[in-house]
Amino acid sequence: GDVAVLVPAAGAGVRLGAGAPKALRPLAGAPLLVHAVRRVALAPSVRCVVVAAPPAEVDAVRALLAPVAPVTVVAGGAERQQSVAAALAAVPAGIPIVLVHDAARALTPPALVEAVAAAVRGGADAVIPVLPVIDTIKEVDAAGTVLGTVDRAALRAVQTPQGFRRTVLAAAHAAATDPLTDDAGLVEKAGGAVLCVPGSELALKITRPLDLLIAEALLAAEGG
Ligand code: C5P
Repeated sequence: GDVAVLVPAAGAGVRLGAGAPKALRPLAGAPLLVHAVRRVALAPSVRCVVVAAPPAEVDAVRALLAPVAPVTVVAGGAERQQSVAAALAAVPAGIPIVLVHDAARALTPPALVEAVAAAVRGGADAVIPVLPVIDTIKEVDAAGTVLGTVDRAALRAVQTPQGFRRTVLAAAHAAATDPLTDDAGLVEKAGGAVLCVPGSELALKITRPLDLLIAEALLAAEGG
């Protein structure tokens, strides 16, 4: 394997157990983070997974993930970007490709991880999985009056994992001034080229109640 996957899961308020937001919300009895780590670790190219956890939860997250896959857990920072940087700093030398993955995309197929990694291996500096935008998109003002219709053909919805040559991600983070939640956006700002590859509907971001129902149905279909 020549790939490390970083999972920033150090958002404020993240707690194990009841009332858990985002990364630790349960899906079919296991936190989203557990599902996400299990799937990325199944991708043959992945040598190393690094999770950034809230500083007070590092030991608990380590215990949670130990039975799932070999994982390094580090303390995250105050901003997501600092959590990504902390995880990046924990990647062993000699791993040239780094992916950043959102734990909420818990059912991302290992094949998508491989496709993103392959595009980086093929020479791209930065790679994002994307889907076409299905809905018609309108630009509106504060009163809800339509200002115009956006050309949907030129739009893409962006998923994770986002992939990078390690040196490119490290340089983009070093050059970053304003915090961004999108690592490929840092590369864009630094003047780098970002390549799109086809995403997967299975990589949906599981945040709303409807997403949880869909995810449960997908898991049930897999098991049956
Ligand atoms: O809060 P937000 O939607 O920006 O969080 C996106 C992801 O970044 C979440 O998985 C969250 O846990 C992570 N994060 C982090 N460190 C922070 C803030 C957010 O790893 N300081």
